[in-house]
Amino acid sequence: MRKLGLVSVAMAAIALASCGKGSEPGSGAGASGAAVAPASEDLMKTAREQFKAIPASYRDEPGNPATEAQIDLGNMLYHDPRLSGSHALACASCHNIGLGGGDDASTSIGHKWQQGGRNAPTVLNAVFNTAQFWDGRARDLTEQAGGPIANPIEMASLPEHVPQQLKSIPGYPPLFAKAFPGERDPVSFANAQKAIAAFETTLITPNSPFDKYLSGDAGALSAEQKDGLRLFIDKGCAACHNGINVGGGMYAKFGVAAAPASKFRPAGDKGREGVTHDVSDEYSFKVPTLRNIALTAPYFHTGSVWDLKEAVRVMGSAQLGQKLSDADVDKIAAFLGALTGEQPKVLVPILPPSGPDTSRPER
Ligand code: HEC
Ligand code: HEC
Repeated sequence: MRKLGLVSVAMAAIALASCGKGSEPGSGAGASGAAVAPASEDLMKTAREQFKAIPASYRDEPGNPATEAQIDLGNMLYHDPRLSGSHALACASCHNIGLGGGDDASTSIGHKWQQGGRNAPTVLNAVFNTAQFWDGRARDLTEQAGGPIANPIEMASLPEHVPQQLKSIPGYPPLFAKAFPGERDPVSFANAQKAIAAFETTLITPNSPFDKYLSGDAGALSAEQKDGLRLFIDKGCAACHNGINVGGGMYAKFGVAAAPASKFRPAGDKGREGVTHDVSDEYSFKVPTLRNIALTAPYFHTGSVWDLKEAVRVMGSAQLGQKLSDADVDKIAAFLGALTGEQPKVLVPILPPSGPDTSRPER
């Protein structure tokens, strides 16, 4: 045990050192605490130092306190395909709340069946991420929500068209006025982004077995899941996947120990380097959340892996330089299964009907 511990400390330290450069510790992320999990009762204590439970109710985005009126409007906009040029795509098309907040596709189908370059990450618990997108190019959910609407291969609407379109739908202006009281021109692209972000802050998944465990219920995890948690900490996974989202708090190179196969990490996508233009960020990506990971295949920014156990094996070799045994992979996967929380209950919104000036779908 002692020896295993020492080896693991070294592994965790390597992983930690390799994620150090260019990474930002996230809120509540315990990257510095990559300690070794003790064999028995202290496991819970160690876990509590590195992870945090999802709270029972939503958290406002910093600087964007959400009101009920904004959340309700945001739910409508999230589901309204008339924000897209084709009227065929809504946020919910690629971030289906019934599918763990993703789209069950390697890369998403956008405007006119165009194939995007990256896998759609889950929106569930995204509010707890340090930044948004695989490369962290949006600071927060509000900034992020502007991206897909205007992206020509996603929803393909012009930002100036959005307020015009929303004003043409008679039911929307009163809802914007209620959500943004006192504003002279509340129906704006910026307010649509704010409302969508407010809605997204409610898409959290508390009470997973792991959250119950962190809150003191030792019986919430099975023996196999506890073994998996111990391995997750000892092997060094938690050096990167930690904090409230078991990820989402920092950037790391995909391939710190060994370059993964090009189907997992194609040369064309340099990740964070495309944002910072710093070569040391080559192939760096935001460490993804592992919350609800059992629901959100396929995996990686390429969506190239459908089997969670294979994703764990790839992580072992690419991030830790270790070939994990089948038994260890099974245990880690069992632990990851304990990260599935209560899925948000969202009422499918009734959308206001189009008016005479509402644009027709573009073909
Ligand atoms: C055509 C599919 C598609 C549509 C429509 C779409 N998204 Fe996405 N979304 C993606 C993809 C793909 C990414 C990852 C892109 C990247 O990282 O470069 C993403 C990333 C995100 C993220 C970042 C999550 C994280 O952990 O980094 C959020 C939040 C999000 N989308 C919300 C939305 C909202 C809100 C809308 C509607 C306004 C929307 N998306 C519309 C495909 C889509
Ligand atoms: C050095 C930091 C680091 C370490 C250590 C690490 N990961 Fe990761 N992990 C990442 C990054 C970065 C990605 C995103 C890779 C990509 O697609 O570009 C990722 C992706 C994943 C994914 C896929 C998530 C998704 O939504 O697609 C899983 C599952 C995962 N890691 C589990 C693990 C496990 C289990 C371990 C330990 C055996 C581990 N990771 C160790 C940084 C790390």
